[in-house]
Amino acid sequence: MEDHVRIFDTTLRDGEQAPGCTMTLEEKLEVARQLARLGVDIIEAGFPAASPGDWAAVHEIAKTVGTPDGPIIAALARANKDDIDKAWSAIQPAAKKRIHTFISSSDIHIEHQLRSTREEVLERARLMVRYARSLCDDVEFSPMDATRSDPEYVYRMLAAVVAEGATTLNIPDTVGYATPEEYAELIAGIYRHVPGADKVIISTHCHDDLGMAVANSLAGVRAGARQIECTINGIGERAGNASLEEVVMALKTRRSFFGVDTRINTRELARSSRLLSTIIGMPVPPNKAIVGANAFAHESGIHQDGVLKHRMTYEIMDATTIGLDGNAIVLGKHSGRNALRTKLAAMGYEFDSEEEFNQVFQRFKELCDKKKVVDDRDLEVLATGGSLHTPE
Ligand code: KIV
Ligand code: ZN
Repeated sequence: MEDHVRIFDTTLRDGEQAPGCTMTLEEKLEVARQLARLGVDIIEAGFPAASPGDWAAVHEIAKTVGTPDGPIIAALARANKDDIDKAWSAIQPAAKKRIHTFISSSDIHIEHQLRSTREEVLERARLMVRYARSLCDDVEFSPMDATRSDPEYVYRMLAAVVAEGATTLNIPDTVGYATPEEYAELIAGIYRHVPGADKVIISTHCHDDLGMAVANSLAGVRAGARQIECTINGIGERAGNASLEEVVMALKTRRSFFGVDTRINTRELARSSRLLSTIIGMPVPPNKAIVGANAFAHESGIHQDGVLKHRMTYEIMDATTIGLDGNAIVLGKHSGRNALRTKLAAMGYEFDSEEEFNQVFQRFKELCDKKKVVDDRDLEVLATGGSLHTPE
């Protein structure tokens, strides 16, 4: 089978854990349907032990979206039998099911949160992966806070769960602490130190506390990871998770650098972003990479002139590949003559002489000093010589 990076979407689990991002069952179902259209490989539908409502949402998604040709439906479980049983029962209706179980591996978590010891925690990880495997043949294991853990201990823990049949090893940068070089080294170390690592999928799970979630995920791929855990619009705990649209478009745009791509239907990216933003009521910042309103917009004269002559002078991606109609030439005070002439021509205005156009251009520049963006109605008035109503 062709090598590819699996996209494990956790918008409905880690994403939903962010303040202000909770969703009703119907809303989760709508997002899950869109994720299936987007072509994600795995949907982490929720954390069934968290509440009866979460169990019900995971169950409904498994029933509706977990079709034989749809995505794998995963549910999260702490490393205990009760959580694993709840995860397993919730995903029952799905054709393809995954149990994702986790336990912390850092001393700070083991001592202060779990109040346990390294040996006890390692044994719990081993036994719970064994238990999950007795139910499901697709089991993912995560050593939580892996990037602040002793790597030797993480490798021992991973070796133990691989021996018990874990099929995916996910490496969380839980608090967004790692740098790309450190994260890549941790992933590369798994291949060197964990027997059987080459027979399972290594996965990235990076948080954005220092703004490095996407860079860390991609560094993980360079080191051999073949699954990325991410969320639409990068929502998630605190500063969020790696943004799905960014990792997907980075791999697609720089395919020859990474040597591997995803199977995402990128034309659904813009729609997915808009849908989630509307449902949770969280606007996408205009300057957000890929899906922000300005990501394919040009205002400065030099850039507009270049793009009008050849799109690739100032664009590395085609807006239509993410499902937009095209790029946007925004007319404002930095815009030049070529952009104005092209826009007016598209609106059906032509000028008898250069002199006539110059007058319109001069009036346009005067207006731009009074308004941030000049819209089509302003242009109509400018082109027909009418009087302009500008803000005071
Ligand atoms: O960030 C994290 O450690 C997690 C795990 C549950 C995978 O979300
Ligand atoms: Zn997380």
